[in-house]
Amino acid sequence: MGSRIVATGRALPRTAVSNHDLARRMDTSDEWIRTRTGIARRYVISSGESLVDIAAAASKTALARAGMRPAEIEAIIVGTVSSEYGFPSFSCQLQHRLGVDSIPAYDVAAACSGFIYALSVADNAMRAGEYSRVLVVGADALSTMVDWDDRAVAVLFGDGAGAAVMVAEPGPRGVLSSLLRSSGEYWHLLSVRSSGVRATLDSEVRRSPDDAIKMKGPELFKIAVRSMADVTLKVAERAGVGLAEVALIVPHQANIRILNAVADRLGIAPDKVFTNIDRYGNTSAASVPIALDEALEAKRIHDNDLVLLNACGGGLTWGANLLRW
Ligand code: ACO
Repeated sequence: MGSRIVATGRALPRTAVSNHDLARRMDTSDEWIRTRTGIARRYVISSGESLVDIAAAASKTALARAGMRPAEIEAIIVGTVSSEYGFPSFSCQLQHRLGVDSIPAYDVAAACSGFIYALSVADNAMRAGEYSRVLVVGADALSTMVDWDDRAVAVLFGDGAGAAVMVAEPGPRGVLSSLLRSSGEYWHLLSVRSSGVRATLDSEVRRSPDDAIKMKGPELFKIAVRSMADVTLKVAERAGVGLAEVALIVPHQANIRILNAVADRLGIAPDKVFTNIDRYGNTSAASVPIALDEALEAKRIHDNDLVLLNACGGGLTWGANLLRW
């Protein structure tokens, strides 16, 4: 028995913020942000908006496209580090919003690698025969955790959610292999204390610098390139597949220069790497499922294509999933 993604969905906050908007509030420029990161705009949560509602909207789209009612789902697994509560988990809040209050629902905290981890956890559970239909979600709102005076960090992140409906299925299609890695020794390169205060861009509430995301960008950049390239090669090796056979890589959208450097290292043509970072920024665990949903909509993925998902994020964590669509 294996598992396969049968439908996806995405949802974003109402407010789009361009680089020009940011340049009006801090010492930055559209030119700096575009050339250093590839980002032109991002969506950010406003006060009064709920990331759980956004995740529910993405989930409902995925379920509708799968032709399923929420009641048919047997488990919910969410990659997130953005619950407003220490507990209950984000998944339990989402489950309640979806009206499926009796199934198992739990979070996987792996920062930007959250969806890759959650998908692997769901696949293993289905292989073990535990569930036959699982909702896997990536949702984050890191814009609420930045210090809006720290321009090196504040310009990078956006918010959103992506969802995938997975079904247990025998046969050649679905998840072929997953590879998860983490290295706590690098925890200090990207971290945030969990103070619970949501400092949305539109409100007066501000995180103190000590409680905001701290990042060592240039060091992170080098490790992200190395680790994403390494895990991409290894997940393909594990499945006995050559990278040349992969039709599309759908990576975590952290920085266009990271994606280009990984592609260069692996000798992958740029048109085989899906990017949408210009419109969303880095949405952490939401980035891979949002990109996957857009890639499907744009018909960049066809039945039986080999599709590779990869990510690197705080922890540090990194990982990849190889799927036959
Ligand atoms: N606008 C204008 N200038 C800025 C800004 C800004 N928003 N931010 C920093 N600068 C300035 C710096 O102050 C510095 O000025 P100085 O030379 O006078 O001191 C200059 O720009 C260069 O700064 P660097 O940090 O060297 O810039 P770099 O080329 O490394 O780019 C960046 C910075 C974009 C953060 C890059 O290091 C990066 O992307 N790192 C990876 C970080 C990342 O992706 N984090 C997300 C989570 S992890 C993940 O998802 C993989």
